[in-house]
Amino acid sequence: MDSEFVSTHRDRMLRELTEWLAIPSVSALPSHAADCRRAAVWLSDELRRLGFPVVDLVEGDGLPVVWAESTPVAGAPTLLIYGHYDVQPPDPLEDWTTPPFEPTERDGKLFGRGTADDKGQIYCLLKACEKASAGRGHPPINLRLVIEGEEESGGHVIQNLLHADPSRLDADAVLVCDMSYFAPGLPAVYTALRGMCYAEIHVRTLQRDLHSGTYGGVAPNALETLARMLAELKTEDGEVRIPKLYKWVEPPAPSEVQAWKKLPFDKKAFLEHEITGRAITGLRKFSIFERTWALPTFEVHGIRGGFTGDGAKTVIPATAMAKVSLRLVPGQSFERVARALTRAVEDVAPDWADVEVRIIHGADPVQVDVTHPAFALLDQAFEERVGKGTVAVRAGGSIPVVLDLGKGGAPVILTGIGLPDDGLHSPNEKLDLQQLWDGIDVFARFFELFAGLQATASND
Ligand code: BES
Ligand code: ZN
Repeated sequence: MDSEFVSTHRDRMLRELTEWLAIPSVSALPSHAADCRRAAVWLSDELRRLGFPVVDLVEGDGLPVVWAESTPVAGAPTLLIYGHYDVQPPDPLEDWTTPPFEPTERDGKLFGRGTADDKGQIYCLLKACEKASAGRGHPPINLRLVIEGEEESGGHVIQNLLHADPSRLDADAVLVCDMSYFAPGLPAVYTALRGMCYAEIHVRTLQRDLHSGTYGGVAPNALETLARMLAELKTEDGEVRIPKLYKWVEPPAPSEVQAWKKLPFDKKAFLEHEITGRAITGLRKFSIFERTWALPTFEVHGIRGGFTGDGAKTVIPATAMAKVSLRLVPGQSFERVARALTRAVEDVAPDWADVEVRIIHGADPVQVDVTHPAFALLDQAFEERVGKGTVAVRAGGSIPVVLDLGKGGAPVILTGIGLPDDGLHSPNEKLDLQQLWDGIDVFARFFELFAGLQATASND
């Protein structure tokens, strides 16, 4: 049963969230910079409506960070909330049942880009704050929010802000709500995130494109050269062929691997409903959890080159480019992996190709300790509302700033209200509305419980 707060305000909340989601805040596309700013302004206005006395748009070398502070409560602990208002590009558009920026409710789910990653989840925390402010006009704790606009595209405005002013990290705990339950009915907290090394591989084999009849059979084709190089960098069995890459990996403790074996997991359902393909690929001697949480990956995200228009053109392309990334795990560092990737690409390039590796962005992997008392309070809040406490697992994804968020010494709670099949970064991304409604009650309760924690951070 929904809480009274949720049943009373459900329609208004759906209207508000829909309005925010309709702003296409795609940080990777420069053509959407104004939309990203509109999304930041929408959030600032909402925070003012909620009664936050401090709401700033902090400018930097890119998209602004929204910083907000709730009405100070002397002696109460401080919770710093992190999130991101930017979203991934929505393509391929033709695969969406309803347009990505026209949020639509179907079967109790809200479909649209950013519903789960991460606007819907930030919205959940805002409404939890609204609920927890009832009768007092402000939440029972000192809430601070730092919401960036470049998480999905490797920007650095938030990192620069936190380096320039580390006192912003002065909190009793940091809450990151950009993740999902481990499974329906089973909320989670995360002990690790993978790091990232994103790069472009540029190849040139000719000064200009050539006729494939006159020169086919003798001229080096840039796309073919690139395809062969990419195939060299990873075997069909999923082994990434970059020297030392696996040597750096710190394997998970046997007890951790043992705990993963006990997690509820239906491989067939995973293949059908999440992977949506015919096979699970990769390093067969490792479990799926080891492959997605504790081992590095190498993925090709896109290839540009040659003729891809309608119809047919017989040409030998002179240039080609691939966008690739590696996910990094504990023991590996972005800088080392970037150098190793560059060397490996140069090593597999044939003499006739000019090759350049451009590193686009990256982040080190993160591990977090989940023993601070704040985790037990979150457990209690979930238990009370959804009947289950959290399970501690790792995540395969990355949130680059998390490493910095922990630098003030506060524990970083990585959690969320999504479900594994939300389709982050995919067409038809969705958020189950019951997850949102429950989440509002869970986090409102968490704020109340958190108020009882001994405050150590200064909040002047
Ligand atoms: N919410 C995700 C991170 C995530 C994904 C956590 C899956 C747990 C499971 C986040 O918004 C994200 O997508 N991050 C990017 C960062 C990258 C561009 C550096 C990612 O992981 O691709
Ligand atoms: Zn994302």
